[in-house]
Amino acid sequence: MATGNLAAVFPGPGKTLEVTTVEVNHPGAGEVLVRNHAVAIQPLDAKMLLAGYGGGGALESFPALLGTGGAGVVEEVGEGVTGLAVGDRVVFDTRAYVKADVNRREGTWQKLVISDARTTAKIGDTAFEQAVLIDFPLQTAVGALHVFLGMAVPGSGSSEDKVLIWGAGGAVGSYAVQYAKSVSSVDSSMIRKLSINTFQVGHTVVVTASPRDFERQKRLGASEMIDYKAADAVDRLRQLGPYKYLFTASGDPASQKALASLLEAQGGGEFASVLGGEVELPSNVQRVYRAFSQAAQQEEYSDWRAWWYREYLPKVLREGLVETVKYTKVPGGLGALQQASTNVFEGKVRGKLIVDPQE
Ligand SMILES: NC(=O)c1ccc[n+]([C@@H]2O[C@H](COP(=O)([O-])OP(=O)(O)OC[C@H]3O[C@@H](n4cnc5c(N)ncnc54)[C@H](OP(=O)(O)O)[C@@H]3O)[C@@H](O)[C@H]2O)c1
Repeated sequence: MATGNLAAVFPGPGKTLEVTTVEVNHPGAGEVLVRNHAVAIQPLDAKMLLAGYGGGGALESFPALLGTGGAGVVEEVGEGVTGLAVGDRVVFDTRAYVKADVNRREGTWQKLVISDARTTAKIGDTAFEQAVLIDFPLQTAVGALHVFLGMAVPGSGSSEDKVLIWGAGGAVGSYAVQYAKSVSSVDSSMIRKLSINTFQVGHTVVVTASPRDFERQKRLGASEMIDYKAADAVDRLRQLGPYKYLFTASGDPASQKALASLLEAQGGGEFASVLGGEVELPSNVQRVYRAFSQAAQQEEYSDWRAWWYREYLPKVLREGLVETVKYTKVPGGLGALQQASTNVFEGKVRGKLIVDPQE
């Protein structure tokens, strides 16, 4: 039986994390206990810690435990769990937008985490760092494009449309580009078998990004790259349209306004955004803003959850279907989370920062 748990506990708004010994929880029915070997600090975590994000909803009582995703080894298996066994290497997600978890069962900023078996996927030989680099942001991108905007899944459906990804430089944006490029009627294993150039299949993807990132965007599958800071960005995007799927992976108001103006000119429609906020939209334009990363935690999306954790994510990891974003491994274990989150929050980091809670 697992012993010796340590957590980076968030005492409350404006306070710093305290690394302290906490109880070891044991899995109930449908749960597993995972020894957590990698967390990637997401902007969501940093905003919750440093800007009161989620206050009044997700975090209304303290102390709390942050961190939504992790990767590690299963140490205990609860009743009724099938398909997962002690010793399995897994990646997993826990709920972010829930009331503070007084027993600190969930929350991945600790060594031993309880995870719902339904949101836990086996990763085989994939490195823990690779698994956390991919799961959360890719799930956000695919959630937005597939679940909420209706784009098909790879191996089925049309790929003849134009897609616009605004702010493709970040993790969510980089994976959104690659997902849109992977959607065609041809399955990934067939693409590999026939040595088809992936640029011959998939949607046509137009992105906005920083010029220093253009080379990489091309490699990921973008056919046109526009500097999002250019004064004529929207005009140039209009010339390259119309677009069937529009997604802002930066979510800032300027990006939302840009996508709304493009949609208005092409007769209206909807775009997805990773962030909300007060933005005035034309009457023929709708914004789809959701916690895309959390949809799999809800019963309403149980089919999507099963596809993600049992089929698609393991396949992506096994076959190496995406080029991962850059990462830096931050030494110091749980004690490094405060400063690393500050660096993420202040926009000082390119790529993701990864911490091993066991250090
Ligand atoms: N709704 C959801 O479910 C959900 C889920 C995950 C993330 N999010 C949100 O999505 C956002 C992106 O997350 P991420 O994990 O992709 O972050 P990330 O990997 O840290 O991406 C940051 C990068 O985005 C680019 N960027 C920043 N501001 C921009 C702007 N105003 N316009 C265009 N590009 C900009 C920059 O790239 P360059 O410097 O190369 O331009 C920056 O390096 C965050 O705000 C996060 O909170 C929402």
